[in-house]
Order: sequence, then structure tokens, then C-alpha cells
Amino acid sequence: MQIEQSSSSRLRWVTFSTEDLPSEGADVVTGLKQTQKQLPARYFYDDRGSALFEQICDLPEYYPTRTEAAILEERALEIAQLTGMSDLIELGSGSSRKTRLLLEAYNRLYKTLQYCPIDVSAGLLRTTALNLLQQYPWLHLCGLAGTYEQALAELPPAKFGRRLLIFLGSTFGNFNEIEADRFLLQIRQALKPGEFFLLGVDLVKEISVLEAAYNDAQGITAEFNLNILQHLNHQFSGNFDLAQFEHFAFFNRAESQIEMHLRSLKNQTVRLDGLNLTISLNAGETIHTEISRKFHLPTLTEQLERCFLAPIKVWMDPNKWFGVLLCQRQCINAQECP
Ligand code: AVJ
Repeated sequence: MQIEQSSSSRLRWVTFSTEDLPSEGADVVTGLKQTQKQLPARYFYDDRGSALFEQICDLPEYYPTRTEAAILEERALEIAQLTGMSDLIELGSGSSRKTRLLLEAYNRLYKTLQYCPIDVSAGLLRTTALNLLQQYPWLHLCGLAGTYEQALAELPPAKFGRRLLIFLGSTFGNFNEIEADRFLLQIRQALKPGEFFLLGVDLVKEISVLEAAYNDAQGITAEFNLNILQHLNHQFSGNFDLAQFEHFAFFNRAESQIEMHLRSLKNQTVRLDGLNLTISLNAGETIHTEISRKFHLPTLTEQLERCFLAPIKVWMDPNKWFGVLLCQRQCINAQECP
């Protein structure tokens, strides 16, 4: 881990080394060798993939982003009041678009604020940080470049008051049940009793609304899905022919999740030289690329309580399509909270 003070006294960087991460591509090999072939969702986000995701957020069918933004717009001050003066730390901050609403609310109430965005994309992190610094003269920034695991293991201590950890956009829905538990345990360990966790999640609703959000008329989601193959071609010297695959997304009701797949249009063999891997696909066979879970609030509340992160307040839009939960880290034992 490397700490770097920039020329501005309001900006610090913490960069985690990439050396102790599992070697790039090992997860691709594992996934493509399964009976149901699959790919880790993080490979969506190369530069083009990130740009396509930004476009998805503006699609008429893709309601989550604007629904969550509307809730935050309405509730930002209330959130800031409920937590009291706090540092904000954000997981997967991306361009920090929606977070600005919170930054402004905390500044209005408390006149100063430290914000620590965490992102694996160091480039995007830097651009965003410099933008924010320029726009908000009262803001102190601590950028954390690394994975969630790395950052959560070494969160900076609070500068002003307590800490509020933020995880928006229903990215939590990309974890399966087991991964979600493991992730919440890391959050619990990263926070002190009394500190806060703000979680944005997409909720179960009518299937037609859910499926339309992942099958938009302009085909941007299809492009986003297919781009994962382009990314693999580029990163691992592969020869996926994108014209020989089609986008396929549906709501799996039993699992309460949208699943995205890429379906092979013919019997074919694909080679990834960089991974020394050859795979065969039958016509109609799919590669599973993403799950996006849709939550029931009572079940999610139970899970959070089990993980000592009890929700203290929940907000929804009028349609109840999206939920924002303010959770507080509970005491685990008397030793922790005498
Ligand atoms: C960024 C993971 C929340 O699951 O809705 C959008 C990604 N995939 N369209 C989601 C996504 C297809 C998105 N998350």
C-alpha cells in the first residue's frame, strides 16, 4: 500500500498493489471450463464497457439509475441529519454522479467533509477526484485505488466524526447469496459500532419492467454484453467472433435475478492465446455473463441484521421499484461495546 500526498493539501491517494491479486485471467479460465460456461462480471468494464454502461443509465427502459437518484435527491439532507457529521467513503464510485447530492447535503449541514472514493479504475478515480476538488473548495479527498477487499481491509480512519460507507446502484445485486454474505462480513469488520452503511438495491417488480431494462430497444445492453468478448479478445489475444453470438437476458423468478447470457449462434471453437485456452461451444449454448439480483426488503433486512448491519431507515420511490437503506453497524458483544 502506498500513500501519496498530492500538491493540494486537500487531496491524498492510497494505492494498493496489484501484486497480491489473483493473476488476471485465472478466473476466465475457470469460468469457461464449467459445464455452464460463465465469465466474471468485472470484465464488462474496460473503457468501452464503462462508456456503454453510462449510456445504459440514460436509457428510457433502465429505471434503476434515475429512480435511485430521485430518492437521494429527496433524502440527502435527511440522511446527513441521521448520521450526523461523518466522512463519506464510497465503494465503486465510478464518476460519483449521484454522490454529489450527498456531498452537497453534508456540506450544507456541517460545512466541511472528507470523501474517499474507492475504485479499481485508477484513471477514472483521478479524473473524478480532480473534478470534485475544483468544484467543491470545502472538500477533502482521499482516493483509494484498489479492489473492495483491499480498501475495506484498510479504510482510512474518520477525519471528521464517524464514517458512512456508501454502496449504490444495486451493484450489490451482482453478488450471489454466498458472495453477498462474505461482502457484508467485510463491511462489518471495516466499520466501528455506530458507524453507517448506505445501500442502494433494485427491488422485485413486474417481470415486463425488469426484462425491458435489460433488453432495451436501442440494443445498448446487447452491445454492453457482447463487449465483454471484445475485451477478452484484446486482453488475452482471443478470436471471439462477436457476430456469432447474441445477447440473451431474462428474469429467473426462482432465483429472483436477471441473468445475462451470450448465446452461441453455431457450433464453434474459440481460442484465447494469452490464456492458452481453447473452448468449444455448441449452437444454442450460452456463456453466463451476469446476475443482477432483485430484492425483497424483508429478506434483505434479515440478512443485514444477521450481519450486524441493521437498517435504521429505508426509503423507496412511489412505485417501490428501488430501495435505499441506511444501516448502522451494531455491537457484536459486550467487549466491543461495554
Ligand atoms: C451496475 C451491476 C448495477 O445489474 O443493472 C446494466 C449492470 N447490466 N445492464 C445492473 C448492468 C446490464 C448493472 N449494475
